[in-house]
Amino acid sequence: MGLHNRIKLEFLSLPVNLRLARIAVTAFASEVDYNVNDIEEIKVAVSEAVSNAIIHGYLEKPDGVITITASLWSDALEIVVEDQGKGIEDLENALQPGSGDDPERMGLGFVFMRSFMDEVEVTTEPGQSTTVRLRKRLPGEVQAQWCAEK
Ligand SMILES: Nc1ncnc2c1ncn2[C@@H]1O[C@H](COP(=O)(O)OP(=O)(O)OP(=O)(O)O)[C@@H](O)[C@H]1O
Ligand SMILES: [Mg+2]
Repeated sequence: MGLHNRIKLEFLSLPVNLRLARIAVTAFASEVDYNVNDIEEIKVAVSEAVSNAIIHGYLEKPDGVITITASLWSDALEIVVEDQGKGIEDLENALQPGSGDDPERMGLGFVFMRSFMDEVEVTTEPGQSTTVRLRKRLPGEVQAQWCAEK
């Protein structure tokens, strides 16, 4: 599938940057006409992935580096969130609802990401890094048009 556009954003693991991440990704996605509901879902998914990197990956230390790469493909918006933090020991368990051991947290971040996006793929190297790849299909008309151009 053809690549139409791509941005890459790198920022420190500060909660203040959550807003920036959401705005950057939704501004990027505005090239295609997702409806308001889709945009809200993309915002929540990005927020969950970035907060996980800040809170769990970097244990709220402010000097971690988070990168977001957003790509518009002929068929989907793809958002990849990467951190070089502590990684996930038991990934299968982490993906389940309520898996975290912090009673303050609901353990629903991955559940939201999976329900709001069409694909969620997590790869992790314990002690080293975590990468979350989120994909959402393009609105039908754009997809038909872009696919026809290829
Ligand atoms: N980037 C990451 N680095 C390290 N561990 C992670 C990362 N993302 C998720 N995890 C682990 O996966 C678990 C599940 O994440 P999830 O977002 O579903 O729930 P949560 O963050 O615990 O709670 P909530 O998102 O509802 O506040 C986390 O508790 C954490 O242990
Ligand atoms: Mg979370």
